[in-house]
Amino acid sequence: MKLYSVRMHAVKDGRHASGAERIVPREKLESVLVELARRPKAFELMRITVEEVKELNRVPFTLKLSSYRFSSVKEARAFAAELLVREGVKKEVAEKAVRLLAEGPAPGGRVMRGAVLMDPVTGERLEEDPSRGVRTVRFDWSDREKARELILKAGGTERTVDALALAQKNLFCGVLAELCWSDDPSYVTGYVAGRSTGYARITPLKEKGDPKGGRVYFVKKEELERVRRCLEEAFLLVETPDTFPPLF
Ligand code: COA
Ligand code: AMP
Repeated sequence: MKLYSVRMHAVKDGRHASGAERIVPREKLESVLVELARRPKAFELMRITVEEVKELNRVPFTLKLSSYRFSSVKEARAFAAELLVREGVKKEVAEKAVRLLAEGPAPGGRVMRGAVLMDPVTGERLEEDPSRGVRTVRFDWSDREKARELILKAGGTERTVDALALAQKNLFCGVLAELCWSDDPSYVTGYVAGRSTGYARITPLKEKGDPKGGRVYFVKKEELERVRRCLEEAFLLVETPDTFPPLF
């Protein structure tokens, strides 16, 4: 059966305003095009790409889930750094990653259009363009409707639906660990993902109203090119499991 990668992004006031993607069979194409086209509330430009999937990869969902609440951002960030250290990131490098997201990882303290790639031992930034970074694309749940229903029921949000599949693709591609919190000023929950950590949801990783955020992927310098290509180019379906444990 032929599958298609459908990717939408919309621009408002010259900036990226909305993005979403799916991998679907031919018979779902029209309904998904309508669904994605309806997503951005307002836009001056919307692009939808439909691309035939070549060489589909499939992986089970293996991340164990946990969640942690702290009474201050400082404690939550210290805990996130500690989890990264447990994944093999050097302490100073983990602290550098937290600082980077807090300050805004793009030049001028702005947010990036993708993720920072960072060597876990030297802390060197490896992405070619520090304003763009690298994006994880061409992935979806094998059964998105079921994944969405189960994740929302478990206490997750719409963002969690995408973030869990994204984190699974990152591990598949060889990212050692990941730190994320959103640049959305109203969304203060973030996560650390890694092979032994699984997906640890952590709140609050920033103060309400703070427009800074981003993602840091820890990748060994010698694996950079392979990992980057996998993140951006490999097609991947994450098998939807039958249950998710409560997220909060
Ligand atoms: N943030 C900011 N800008 C983005 C962007 C994002 N997430 N995605 C696309 N753009 C803009 C950029 O200007 C980009 O140019 P660049 O490559 O120089 O940065 C331009 O759109 C074209 O991007 P491209 O990668 O060719 O788009 P695409 O057709 O492959 O679609 C998206 C990618 C939009 C589907 C993907 O980036 C996305 O947003 N997915 C949403 C779900 C998701 O993964 N969310 C992660 C958080 S859980
Ligand atoms: P979000 O969770 O959508 O608020 O995104 C948080 C940050 O992650 C953004 O500021 C980007 O730097 C980065 N980002 C967004 N989409 C992707 C993606 N598909 N892959 C990697 N990084 C991303």
